[in-house]
Amino acid sequence: LGERPLSIIVLGATGDLAKKKTIPALFKLHSEGLIPSTVNIVGYARSEVTDEAEFRNKFVPFFPAASKRNDADAVAKFLSRISYVQGSYDGLDDFSRLHEVLQKFEAADGAKGNRLFYLALPPTAFVGACTGISKKAMTPSDNYGWVRVIIEKPFGHDLDSSNALSAQLSQLLKEPQIFRIDHYLGKEMVQNIVTLRFANRAFGALWNANNIANVQITFKETIGTEGRGGYFDSFGIVRDVLQNHLTQMLALVAMEKPRSLSAEDIRDEKVAVLRCVEPIELSDCVLGQYTANDKMPGYLDDPTVPKGSKCPTFAMMKLRINNDRWRGVPFIIKAGKALESKSVRIRIQFHEEVRPFLQHTQRNELVICAQPNEGIYLKITTKVPGLGKESIDTHQTELDLTYRNRYSDVSLPDAYESLISEAVNGNSTNFVRDDELAAAWSIFTPVLHAIDEGKVTPLQYVAGTRGPSEADEFLAKCGYRRTEGY
Ligand code: BG6
Repeated sequence: LGERPLSIIVLGATGDLAKKKTIPALFKLHSEGLIPSTVNIVGYARSEVTDEAEFRNKFVPFFPAASKRNDADAVAKFLSRISYVQGSYDGLDDFSRLHEVLQKFEAADGAKGNRLFYLALPPTAFVGACTGISKKAMTPSDNYGWVRVIIEKPFGHDLDSSNALSAQLSQLLKEPQIFRIDHYLGKEMVQNIVTLRFANRAFGALWNANNIANVQITFKETIGTEGRGGYFDSFGIVRDVLQNHLTQMLALVAMEKPRSLSAEDIRDEKVAVLRCVEPIELSDCVLGQYTANDKMPGYLDDPTVPKGSKCPTFAMMKLRINNDRWRGVPFIIKAGKALESKSVRIRIQFHEEVRPFLQHTQRNELVICAQPNEGIYLKITTKVPGLGKESIDTHQTELDLTYRNRYSDVSLPDAYESLISEAVNGNSTNFVRDDELAAAWSIFTPVLHAIDEGKVTPLQYVAGTRGPSEADEFLAKCGYRRTEGY
């Protein structure tokens, strides 16, 4: 940090993503000294802004309340770093003007500047904006430090469209300049997977088909698609959550040990394992769509959703990883809207021991709770304490690493804070590389096309329930055995 002036340009600054995620994350980083205090934050969008102070103040209600430094002084210092430039996303002249504004700031500092562009924009604007950046806002190489561009999904809607987008972007920017956000990779518990696996022999040595019976990665939300049904309908839960967030977690759980912790070594291993995942077949899916309950309208009741839409709001899919480590182990990924609870968990279920505890059928389970209430539990069997009967009584209990108990003095960063800070520091580890994206799309594209063609009618489930009961039956068929406890 610090040796060059840093500008962070938020394109789409008047939109929801900027307001709720990007700018609040920048505030937190600024107030904690994780980006230079002199950072130049430029909001860029199409709307006319007559009152810059009003524009800046609109962000304040979204600043993290838990921030220790959320005081008036920190807020004022941060807001004083923000300015606004009006411009279109495909007008080269507008990007020239933006460039001049950046140059002025850099010249005042007397040094060559670094520029981080955050595209809080719909994907239709990506290519236009990157063209503007590449043609007008990247000064000749001796005049600037680095230029990096953050973009966020959707990256296409299938393999071909995603490849086409990647090809267009690659004409404008070099791959190391592109930081594709999957915000799940910024979550503390997801970032911990590599450490858990590769810094602990106790887990590393067991991490294979000999010991692991199945892996489940589950994403549950209680909210439906209210207010964004129209948007959601053109994607569906598979594109919204499974193809990206859950697949990224799967890659981290399943990949081989990287040669080093460098971004490229880690991403090489993620790509390698994703390429071993067989494309999903329709027979390995349970799809659902929620109907109304007494508090919440059903998916199809949303006026912005096309009548009779077969778009899934729930999906469970079995993935097969065809390599020596994992052949035969089902990886079951599941995501649903309007379910009974909100949680994201990874559940690694081990085979049971059979001897000499013949009566004992419980399995060990390692559970990573990504949110809420972050933690790691290992379900184990112990002898029931105290004087027993003649045979030993056992029961299932857990080694419990609940973060809020163990790390009560640490406030876990928001995913966007971690990721923006990593992008500023040039660390691409937790961003999705182009080949990784293509490998992820390859797994889902055939089944997505079948769904798009209306080949499946999703099963109905009532909002606020666990999803279609067929999903639990499918899970049991995959060999998952429900255990006691968490
Ligand atoms: C987004 C999806 O990527 O992730 C949303 O588009 C979903 O549909 C959200 O609600 C979940 O993110 P988080 O961080 O709240 O779990």
